[in-house]
Amino acid sequence: MKPRLRRGLFGIPAFVFLGLSLLALPGFSQPGVAPKVDRPWMNQSLSPDERANLVLKQMTIDEKIQLLHGNGMPQEEPLTPLTALSNRGVGYVAGIERLGIPGIDMSDAAYGVRSSGVNGRYSTALPANVAAAASWDTDAAFEYGALIGRELRAQGFNMSLGGGVDITREPRNGRTFEYLGEDPILAGTLVASLIAGTQSQHVIGDIKHYAFNDQESGRDSVNAHINKRAARETDLLAFEIGVTQGHPAAVMCSYNRVDGDFACENKYLLNEVLKKDWQFPGFVVSDWGGTHSDVKASAAGLDNEQPRDIFYGDRFKAAVQAERIPESELNEHVRRILRSEFASGIVDFPRQRSVVDPLAGLEVARKIEEGGIVLLKDNLAALPLDAGTIHTIAVIGAHADVGMISGAGSAQVDPPGGNAIAPPGKGATYWKEEIWFPTSPLKAIQARAPHAVVTFDSGTNAKAAVAAAKGADVAIVFAYDWESEDMDLPNLSLPLHQDDLIAQVAAANPHTIVVLETGSPVTMPWVDAPAAILEAWFAGSDGANALANILFGSVNPSGKLPNTFPKSEADLPHPTLVKPPLASQRFPKSASPLQRAEGLPPFQVEYDEGLKVGYKWYDAEKKAVLFPFGFGLSYTSYGYSGLTVTQGKMVEATFTVANTGGRAGAEIAEVYASLPASAAEPPKRLVGWSKVKLDAGEKKTVTVDIDPKYLSVFDEAKNMWTLVPGEYSILVGGSSQDLPLRATISLE
Ligand code: BGC
Repeated sequence: MKPRLRRGLFGIPAFVFLGLSLLALPGFSQPGVAPKVDRPWMNQSLSPDERANLVLKQMTIDEKIQLLHGNGMPQEEPLTPLTALSNRGVGYVAGIERLGIPGIDMSDAAYGVRSSGVNGRYSTALPANVAAAASWDTDAAFEYGALIGRELRAQGFNMSLGGGVDITREPRNGRTFEYLGEDPILAGTLVASLIAGTQSQHVIGDIKHYAFNDQESGRDSVNAHINKRAARETDLLAFEIGVTQGHPAAVMCSYNRVDGDFACENKYLLNEVLKKDWQFPGFVVSDWGGTHSDVKASAAGLDNEQPRDIFYGDRFKAAVQAERIPESELNEHVRRILRSEFASGIVDFPRQRSVVDPLAGLEVARKIEEGGIVLLKDNLAALPLDAGTIHTIAVIGAHADVGMISGAGSAQVDPPGGNAIAPPGKGATYWKEEIWFPTSPLKAIQARAPHAVVTFDSGTNAKAAVAAAKGADVAIVFAYDWESEDMDLPNLSLPLHQDDLIAQVAAANPHTIVVLETGSPVTMPWVDAPAAILEAWFAGSDGANALANILFGSVNPSGKLPNTFPKSEADLPHPTLVKPPLASQRFPKSASPLQRAEGLPPFQVEYDEGLKVGYKWYDAEKKAVLFPFGFGLSYTSYGYSGLTVTQGKMVEATFTVANTGGRAGAEIAEVYASLPASAAEPPKRLVGWSKVKLDAGEKKTVTVDIDPKYLSVFDEAKNMWTLVPGEYSILVGGSSQDLPLRATISLE
């Protein structure tokens, strides 16, 4: 959520309260505080459910209500005395000290811990989530989450607000960088690993924004409509995998409406699908300001309101006392929150402040970026560069002398020293601003080519850039497309005349390499001109070193696209993004919290492409694309052979991958399935993959297990996944459009 004010309570800076009150914070060790009641729930051999039930029996109604809501944000009025007790994150649920139940201190943590700047702390910025998705690497995703968990704990937080997994149904969505691509099985599997990593550090993990928050334009007022089968097989499947395999302790419901009801009071999404069908045992927390009622939201399954208590405080208590909300419902919300506190370990392993390890963070960030950079084009082996033979390199554009761009909004991690493009000492960071990290491609390139002359041109004047490129052995043009929460991209073109810059530089120097820093796919009218193209995404704290390692070949690229790059926006399911009408855009500044909670007039977005999200759309509609889903080159080459498919509990695809080139590398071997025609599905879907490390000349036999659910369709009438009897084709290869192996299997 957007912080509005930077004042403290009664005009006193909040850090004064913070200093006075930290010692009293439940969860921080307080020597000498004796337990006031017998606490059988501290017995770790009991299950989280048993422990939660024991606590629940001891609680007064006020204590129960206290767990149901936040207490404001330190940077936003109105503050409450309890706000000051928080750890200066975005959400704070006060604990019950009498019973030894710690408060829950939440921080945004999509690609690292947020708001480090305003709190005078340091956090690692991992590459954007979409870059981690491009690695297709579940171990890396776990490491990603674990680093976030470690840094949260070190900074005194015990809950992460990360785990974004809304699939890329609308690639202009300004939060595409925070999500994990267009395929529900890839995105769901990776988010499950990420969440498991975070929770391995005894931090409550969450998954968000549940669900269909697929565009930012009018996110509070949009009413998404989609048929149930398509819903379950697309966006909801990513959440289903994330929830059932990653076991997040919390789910954040989104701002938008789905089929008429706000997601945070949507009985179908919360009670029926999440809690009943997927057996989610944790708690549902509203997105910030996304709670719209007490009785309706409670009955639908919302457990916790953030960031305040407009509905889930006194009003909720009154509703329980008047029997408009059954006591059993109140108890159920509280039990779920307590259960998550025990299950995540925040009770047994209280957070302990320590100093974040920036060096370890840089290393993790670099490795993840190295695995996620995608080599899109490499004509005549223009890459890798040979530092021994290159005399001059012209680096051009995108502030590549000082830094690399990051994604903005509540995901924003603040760079050490502030925004790298601001004058030294003036780098304070603000919400929804372009923030550059001090990871300088120019310096990293110079370090790897110490004998070459490396120049920099800002790219703001194409003529000067062309002159610089003409005189160099190699030109490296950097281009970026910044993204943020609370906005969508106006289109998929590179902004700021960068298309023209690239075209002119590439025309001037045949050895031109384009490096893209984007979260979403971009169109490339100049695609034929440069010798090589790399997608580096938003590259994180050590992005420049990762990139330089790829450019000079000490790391072989192995990332593959988690999103299709279309040729043109005209090819998208919705060539024009549906924008909110004026009345549905924003509340007047004077709107009261209750008016805000009532919501803006809804406007409809029809997800009538249904099942055909991403590559499934282009396949079904037979539209040629610029770069397909799953595509990515390497400095070596791979061959596939010998596919056999067998059926046991799982369907197993076994095949051989060979490194047929001269360098070690890692190939993402992708497995797709085409369902029987009677299933009426798009032509194919990803059903599994394996990232295989291979030395030059090496071969490996790989088996990919395919979960039967991933071969099934969602039967709306039976409300379950069912396998359609018939013949299935299993396709294997290195990209969704390069699948040399095919086998068929009959399933019943
Ligand atoms: C965002 C969430 C975020 C929350 C708290 C909301 O505006 O949609 O992703 O966790 O704010 O900052």
